[in-house]
Amino acid sequence: MVKVSINNGKRVLEAKEGEMLIDVLSAQGIHLPSACGSKGNCGLCKLKVVEPEIPFTKHELERLFEDKRNEAFHLSCQISLKQDINIEIPQEYLTSQEYTAKLASRRLLTSDIIELTLELISPASISFNPGQYILIKVPPKEGRKAFMRPFSIASSNADTSFIQLNIRRNPGGICTSWIFDELKQGEVVKFSGPRGNFYMHNTERPMLFIAGGSGMAPVRSILKTMHHFRINRKAIYFFGALSHQDLFYLDEMEKLQKEMDDFRFIPALSNEPEGSSWQGERGLIPEVAERYLTGDVSEYEAYLCGKPAMIQSCISILTIKNIPSERTYFDLFNVAKSQK
Ligand SMILES: Cc1cc2nc3c(=O)[nH]c(=O)nc-3n(C[C@H](O)[C@H](O)[C@H](O)COP(=O)(O)OP(=O)(O)OC[C@H]3O[C@@H](n4cnc5c(N)ncnc54)[C@H](O)[C@@H]3O)c2cc1C
Ligand code: FES
Repeated sequence: MVKVSINNGKRVLEAKEGEMLIDVLSAQGIHLPSACGSKGNCGLCKLKVVEPEIPFTKHELERLFEDKRNEAFHLSCQISLKQDINIEIPQEYLTSQEYTAKLASRRLLTSDIIELTLELISPASISFNPGQYILIKVPPKEGRKAFMRPFSIASSNADTSFIQLNIRRNPGGICTSWIFDELKQGEVVKFSGPRGNFYMHNTERPMLFIAGGSGMAPVRSILKTMHHFRINRKAIYFFGALSHQDLFYLDEMEKLQKEMDDFRFIPALSNEPEGSSWQGERGLIPEVAERYLTGDVSEYEAYLCGKPAMIQSCISILTIKNIPSERTYFDLFNVAKSQK
């Protein structure tokens, strides 16, 4: 047996030699973020190894920035336990709550994005910051252990007896295939959380949102919360999709636009056939945002959500527009193979 000592011995776990660290933690309810099936591709499961000093694997060299490696960060899915280990992980992972809910409804929003409504059973309510995410537990099946996948909460925190999610099918993905093809209305869903520091910050600054696809989820949560609690901060939201069929929640966004004092919603399509009936903006969403942001936007707070390439382009534009990185928050939904 080997010992896993967490945060200077605050918690000590026992594990079998050769077990993967991420699995040992997960079995004890300590779920580090992970979105690649422990393949060393997403870089989300990182933690600090205080001792012993261990060599970096190929995936760690690819996925972890040099400054993180210098601080002895490793990917927990790449550590096969050979000896006692002393690690540091953020407190929120040690205290995260487990929830049991019922799938109250499922509704296709587009051909590959589904809305799930989960009614809390135990505990009966959840407290979260709009924009945060939860980890859905995929049940074990024929030799496969249970595992967790992160999804952002898409509903407001005005009614905490349920949450909604917007989930995009990840072709070949185990969790999203289970959700689309197997999970039925009325069934029990377990999850833990809430997590993450992508959430509405409590300031009075104007807000800029840029999202694509299922990146709608955390932005919708923030906007619906603002609407419910009459938080009348100036806000502009650029939402990107491929074609008209990939747009969703248009009526809802229109309603928010009418009922909120200073909110503007700008959807744009990047692959809509020429000559179609679409009257709105066309082009990649960072470029559309750049076209609109002509005045001084340096006072804005920016919230970006979507794929890495989109977020990178947005960050370049926001840097030119003098929105500092401390006020630019983003959630990466998927990390491309070359992304660190
Ligand atoms: C904080 C956060 C919030 C998220 N919120 C949402 C949301 O609201 N809605 C939504 O639809 N998605 C969201 N995602 C993305 C979602 O968690 C992933 O797409 C997830 O991997 C899907 O699980 P899966 O089991 O279906 O796919 P997996 O089985 O994990 O993956 C399928 C295939 O894709 C590859 N792959 C998957 N993810 C990665 C990656 N990150 N890097 C490299 N390769 C990868 C795998 O190697 C595998 O070959 C979020 C992700 C994060 C980190
Ligand atoms: S779970 Fe470890 S890198 Fe993705």
